[in-house]
Amino acid sequence: MKITVKKGDALKQKTPCLVLGVFAGKLKNEQLSQIDQQVGGALDRATRSKEFSGGKGEVLLLHSGPQTVAERILLVGLGNESAFSLRALRQGTSNVVKLLAEKQLGSFLLTLPQLLNKKTDLAERIQAVTEGVLLADYRYNRYLPKDKPGQPIALEKIELLIAAKESTSIAKASVDAAEAIAAGVCFARDLVNAPGNLKSPEYLAMQAVAMAEQQGIKARLLDRRELERQGFGATLGVAQGSEREPYLIVLEYQGGAADVRPIALVGKGVTFDSGGISLKPAEKMDEMKMDMGGAATVLGTMQAAAQMKLPINLVAVVPAVENMPSGTAIRPGDILTSLSGKTIEVLNTDAEGRLILADALTYVGRYEPRVVIDLATLTGACIIALGNQAAAVLGNHDGLIRQLLKAGERSGERFWQLPLWEEYAEQIKSDFADVKNTGGRAAGTITAAAFLQKFADKYHWAHLDIAGMAWEEQGKAGQPKGGTGFGVRALIEYLRGEIKS
Ligand code: BES
Ligand code: MN
Ligand code: ZN
Repeated sequence: MKITVKKGDALKQKTPCLVLGVFAGKLKNEQLSQIDQQVGGALDRATRSKEFSGGKGEVLLLHSGPQTVAERILLVGLGNESAFSLRALRQGTSNVVKLLAEKQLGSFLLTLPQLLNKKTDLAERIQAVTEGVLLADYRYNRYLPKDKPGQPIALEKIELLIAAKESTSIAKASVDAAEAIAAGVCFARDLVNAPGNLKSPEYLAMQAVAMAEQQGIKARLLDRRELERQGFGATLGVAQGSEREPYLIVLEYQGGAADVRPIALVGKGVTFDSGGISLKPAEKMDEMKMDMGGAATVLGTMQAAAQMKLPINLVAVVPAVENMPSGTAIRPGDILTSLSGKTIEVLNTDAEGRLILADALTYVGRYEPRVVIDLATLTGACIIALGNQAAAVLGNHDGLIRQLLKAGERSGERFWQLPLWEEYAEQIKSDFADVKNTGGRAAGTITAAAFLQKFADKYHWAHLDIAGMAWEEQGKAGQPKGGTGFGVRALIEYLRGEIKS
């Protein structure tokens, strides 16, 4: 698919479909009356019969009259102008793309980037529209027949029309950036959607290495022998119930000067979480193939950052394991010695994410990172607290958390802070070890973070619990059912902010 930037009069563009946004009640302007004339009064009839008023989600497809240059005109209702935002622009774009793809229209021209021009700059608007287009075009069809009739068409050629006085080169650069970001999101989605039989820890490691090679990122894998040699006792404990080999995936991207301390990203990579001996119930256990969503987002972000050539140094650490019940699996009551030397009493083998992250957080300290951000589908409690609208953010540094909240708001991937007062650590005190891996039902997301905090004591650190965000259950425009790649956009926004500051 190709996305190009164009200038000129919207009504003079030759295209299979010209897409125009209309705000609620704003149906009287020069352009719309010209359109109405060209389609023989069809717009006027549609508004008078209340078929179209510019309300949010409304659409009106008009076929051309003799003097129209575009073969069709699609009017998209955007709701009240005062409530319109970048978020609505992204969503509106995805809605349009879904509708047109279902109508088998893969080429069209969007004037949507010209909206919001008083509130936001061109680059942001182009990025929002381009992401909206590309993410709506995503499908996971590896296991489906090709060209099934009735399926939405894949996009071919999308043109973005900008205003005469706006800069084509800024718009083009923004399209490039958005393409890199969307590719990172789609890479992450593919990884999450891959079924557990395909997606062993080794598969995840191989995907990471292949991506790294393509992007000029340095990659290293620590295999079981190396993990044993170095003392990754918590990671190995989780892995020992599975026939499949664990890996620690380490990627280094150097976009800045060699002596600048890196930003580190750590991602939970449980390729399937059965719960282990503390087995999960059967219902929805299939979704636990998504328990490497944190890893996927970290890998997608690395790919996007490298493709964008961000002038910054990054390290990614991903522990990849499978959590299975078996005769060799860890038992409730087992005590593991982590890489840090701290001992962990495993009261519930289903609280496995924090175990592998404990070792990864210790390991990443070797890079003397400026900050460490971990992403994990860590707790069901997070879904109880925030549902599917925001990830939880917690950490040991207010400045970092503020930056992440800001990046989340700007990118449209929302975070919400939960407290991490020291009193919560009382809940994870163990009688037999330095710490235990569950803190009871109360404040489950916070006590999980309090556990991680014990291993993240040497640097500025933030934890993103993306349990409610990594998987979309229903499917909507811009986000089909399945893996979401949530966090790639927010992290790239955060990294861009770090470059400016
Ligand atoms: N991967 C799960 C958390 C999860 C649940 C993510 C649902 C996405 C959707 C995690 O490993 C887990 O099982 N957590 C337990 C912790 C508990 C045993 C302390 C949980 O949340 O129930
Ligand atoms: Mn679990
Ligand atoms: Zn898990």
